[in-house]
Amino acid sequence: MIRSSWFLTALLTTAIALLMAGSAPAEEAKENVDFEKQILPIFHEHCVSCHGEKKGLGKLRLHTAAALKKKWDADAHLIVVGEPEKSDLYERLVLPADNKKRMPKKADPLPQEKIDLIGDWIKQGAVLPAAEPAQSATAPPSTEPAGDKPAE
Ligand code: HEC
Repeated sequence: MIRSSWFLTALLTTAIALLMAGSAPAEEAKENVDFEKQILPIFHEHCVSCHGEKKGLGKLRLHTAAALKKKWDADAHLIVVGEPEKSDLYERLVLPADNKKRMPKKADPLPQEKIDLIGDWIKQGAVLPAAEPAQSATAPPSTEPAGDKPAE
């Protein structure tokens, strides 16, 4: 009896320690930017009038992840994963105000927090949501651990 309750206490302590160790880094790290929830709305507010379904100025459309990906596939400079300052998409937002290439064109620069969100998203890997439903049906979402359950 005494032995088993000692064992339980030890087990609990270990479990709590493990839990705490597991959650600590998550609290320190910046939360991951979500493309659909945080980036796409910025494009819709500031960019799609020129880079959307109707107009694709500079051959760039930003109204969906798939549209962005199409341009990105054709032009690797658009986004250099991990390096906003090498990514055209980010660089255009931080050019001097009198530079004609600054985006959004003919409008006020984006608020700093939106520029930072886009920068963070690129730093964190510029992850786009799994493209079309047709594709995600065959490819499992990459966040799932690989299914190597032993066969039963
Ligand atoms: C008023 C219209 C307008 C708006 C709004 C606008 N753009 Fe543009 N954009 C253009 C035009 C025109 C070009 C092509 C000429 C050039 O390269 O400057 C362009 C080109 C670009 C390019 C370069 C594409 C390439 O490879 O040639 C990027 C990147 C870009 N825009 C990003 C953005 C982003 C991000 C936003 C929103 C924050 C935005 N633009 C808003 C008009 C606009």
